[in-house]
Amino acid sequence: MSKAGRQPVIGVFDSGFGGLTVLRALIERLPQARYAFLGDTARLPYGSKSRRTIARYAAQSAQFLVREQGAEFMVIACNTASALALDAIQDAVPVPVLGVIEPGASAAQGASASGDVMVIATDATVHSHAYAAACQARGLRAIEKACPLLVPLVEEGWTTHPVTAEVIRIYLGELRAQAAAEGLKPDTLVLGCTHYPLLRRLIEQVLANNSASGVRVIDSAESTAETAVKLFNGRAAAQPGGALAQTEIRCFATDSVKKFERLGSRFLERPVGRVELIDLGG
Ligand code: DGL
Repeated sequence: MSKAGRQPVIGVFDSGFGGLTVLRALIERLPQARYAFLGDTARLPYGSKSRRTIARYAAQSAQFLVREQGAEFMVIACNTASALALDAIQDAVPVPVLGVIEPGASAAQGASASGDVMVIATDATVHSHAYAAACQARGLRAIEKACPLLVPLVEEGWTTHPVTAEVIRIYLGELRAQAAAEGLKPDTLVLGCTHYPLLRRLIEQVLANNSASGVRVIDSAESTAETAVKLFNGRAAAQPGGALAQTEIRCFATDSVKKFERLGSRFLERPVGRVELIDLGG
């Protein structure tokens, strides 16, 4: 039975509000559940920080969701924290923790016929080579590229802007040239950052305009939600009182609450409601 004797809370954490794309995918599959989402907006971006700092921030954030909000499952809806701090988070909280890297790599395995995949992500995620390792473990060859300009462009709300399209064109052109130089024939592109699903349409347009319309785009938000539901659904459904009549969501942020409320609805595809400001210290 959950601690409160009610439907268990699923804690979802990201460095910012990009992880709301994972929450959206979770709600689609598991609408009658309680969610607590935390965006560590005061300390975003994680993608340019060291492993040590990312681990400290992510562990504090997970502890808030478990200790203060009673989360009994944790979904790390941040590729950077999943790539660099999954162990630290698992050590910090006594509940099951799911990251986004393994589900993303599994989805790439299901999608790729050539066995060669491209991954775009933040600097920290790429330098950790977490995706390359997860792909290699599944018999895939992965080529990774850091795309540091994309998070600020999404944060700015420029998800359909021509400048963003041009930045994507340059990044993907470089990545495909690198793949060709290494003799790879990638047919799959993993969006290895929780902000990138917001750019999916633009990315697919750029691929189509560059004779790469056959490349499958993998959204780790979708594959993570699928894995999470498989893992958690049985336990949630087994709670006394049955399922909730509707989704319950509480959103927390460490800064920029108004921006979260404004842009978050775009990520979540429904109003995020009132976002509560919290302080996790330094
Ligand atoms: N949430 C991060 C990720 O998915 C992107 C934003 C950041 O750099 O903090 O990698």
